[in-house]
Amino acid sequence: VGRKVVVTAGGTREPVDAVRFLGNRSSGKMGRAVAEAAVAHGASVVLVATVPVGAAPCPVVNVETAAEMADAVVAECADADVLVMAAAVADFRPADPADGKIERADRETLTLELVQTVDVLAAAARPGLVRVAFAAEAGPRVARARAKRMAKDVDLLVFNDILAGGIGIGSDENEITIIGTGGERHIPRASKDVCAEAIVRSIEEVLTATGDERGDQG
Ligand code: CTP
Repeated sequence: VGRKVVVTAGGTREPVDAVRFLGNRSSGKMGRAVAEAAVAHGASVVLVATVPVGAAPCPVVNVETAAEMADAVVAECADADVLVMAAAVADFRPADPADGKIERADRETLTLELVQTVDVLAAAARPGLVRVAFAAEAGPRVARARAKRMAKDVDLLVFNDILAGGIGIGSDENEITIIGTGGERHIPRASKDVCAEAIVRSIEEVLTATGDERGDQG
């Protein structure tokens, strides 16, 4: 209650030329569900989204690329308590997008040079900001997800297996494991709303624990 939570949703679009982009299948449903759950728990929420989110229960900042998302997230996190990176951010973008339209004529193949995008989670990091990452892994690779939580030094990492049928990217359901410093919570296949509720409760536990460390009274 009374905390500011920044949530990202959807897949980024990285321009190839004036009309084309590199994207992914993220629907933004998981991020939207987390935003709704956080609002229901009394937080002040800002949703940074790459996809239309309809009648969102909170202010929405629309972005397209990883760089735009980083700018918006860093700005919104200046006075935030929590960042939830539910967005599927491109890891790479075309190095030199064409101003016009790349033409097919006289071309048998097309090679694009890709460079790494800005790491949004890292760019937003600052003392006191609780950060939550997502890891969509190809297979039941929970050990890899645990290592990823440590490497990214995030408070919570939400793991899901993209190869498990009917859940995750684009779907209405998910099956997640919330990995924290103190333990793990597995949510068997359920609606993204149920998963979001579990994520928000885990965030509340982190906020309570860090508040206790600082000697807050609540
Ligand atoms: N993320 C980010 N900035 C990026 C890419 C990803 O903030 N440029 C965030 C995602 O929103 C997600 C988390 O980082 O919350 C983990 O993303 P993932 O792609 O699994 O991490 P990587 O370090 O790219 O790992 P991998 O080697 O598996 O691609």
